[in-house]
Amino acid sequence: MSKLIVAGRQKLSGATEVQGAKNSALPVLAATLLAKGENVIYNCPVLSDVEASSRVLRYLGCTVNRSSHTLAVKSAGACRGDIPDELMRKTRSSIVFLGALLASAGNARLSLPGGCEIGQRPIDMHLRGLRALGALIKEKHGYIECSAPYGLSGARIALSFPSVGATEDIMIAAATASGTTTITNAAREPEICDLADYLNKCGAEIYGAGEGVIVIEGVKELHACSHTIIPDRIAAATLMSCAAVTGSEITLKNVIPSHLAAVIPVFEEAGCTVKSHGCELAFSAPQRLKSMKTVRTMPYPGFPTDAQAPLLAAACVAKGTSVFVENIFENRYRHVSELIRMGANLKTEGKVCVAEGVPCLYGAKVEATDLRGAAALVAAGLCAESATVISGVRFLERGYESLEQTLCGLGADVKKI
Ligand code: UD1
Repeated sequence: MSKLIVAGRQKLSGATEVQGAKNSALPVLAATLLAKGENVIYNCPVLSDVEASSRVLRYLGCTVNRSSHTLAVKSAGACRGDIPDELMRKTRSSIVFLGALLASAGNARLSLPGGCEIGQRPIDMHLRGLRALGALIKEKHGYIECSAPYGLSGARIALSFPSVGATEDIMIAAATASGTTTITNAAREPEICDLADYLNKCGAEIYGAGEGVIVIEGVKELHACSHTIIPDRIAAATLMSCAAVTGSEITLKNVIPSHLAAVIPVFEEAGCTVKSHGCELAFSAPQRLKSMKTVRTMPYPGFPTDAQAPLLAAACVAKGTSVFVENIFENRYRHVSELIRMGANLKTEGKVCVAEGVPCLYGAKVEATDLRGAAALVAAGLCAESATVISGVRFLERGYESLEQTLCGLGADVKKI
């Protein structure tokens, strides 16, 4: 079991590249099942979640080769429709293989997905959408069995919430369905646009990605293509939080500033200066942050739930009271009890967390229990008075490519043991 030892009272400086987006890479990898030939995916981050998706693809019969940040996927050999339980449990996003398998193999048998325990995370919208496209779905003994005996046909699907995963699952399945599919109240996250860009390069006809209504004109088949994954806006927000808590000045390279349009103003409210030049962000934080008033997590273009935990770490040491309202997942304050161990003054009630900023945190032994909560503990550790020992590092590795090395590159003292 690895642990991270984060020395306290750190100051960051210099520039770093932001990794490719995990949440884009995972659905794009699932979608390669539909695109015969060799798919070359650039800027693909080295993460345990990406490795888990590669293992699923290999199990299904694809060839997957990695060279640094490039993954080459040949799906011509894909020959099966089942995914074993131990592979499904590795990540939550394995559920996007449902739409991809239905479209490519005509059937799918998989168990309910795993992933971080940040809420109940039902998949009813995925199933309703796929049923509308003509899939026959049975759920029994924790398994989902799907088939499309008459093929998939376009349909009008109105989502009751703009679910990222359900939008992706339906988009992939509808790409080669017969006729037109319309998704209303679709998720608008940049990762949806990235998936649509990939599918369109493969020959799909998807219009309106990034807007609330997506129209998919089904095509007969898709061909492989080369695609570069967009930068990870949550990794960028996490590094901004690390710089914010330590009163540091850093430059982030390989970012799309517009993807951070809801995040940057919150840091500015806290007294930070953020300047963008093309794909670079120059970030500078004051000696002590100001409080952030109210941060509400919302579907994109609102403030992302994935950035809530790292930002909360910053609010712990801000001057004054900050209020967070978590509207997306019902169990996303698991990092709070660990931050309290470090001296934070936090109170949660339901969706709300109130942070009364304290002048400093102190190092402690803490345990990460989910990906973004782990990032919050790292950020808190950087500004603490003494060293912090973080266990549960495997959660961090699901979504951050060697965060400790990135921080060391910025001058911090973070060790993995
Ligand atoms: C994706 C992201 C995750 C991010 C989340 C919200 C990936 C791999 N993960 O997760 O990092 O935190 O978007 O931005 O891209 N819901 C249902 N029924 C469904 C589907 C979802 O009730 O069928 C609910 C969920 O429980 C949650 C909300 O809808 O409360 C949003 O979930 P969703 O947007 O689907 O998140 P994920 O795709 O799981």
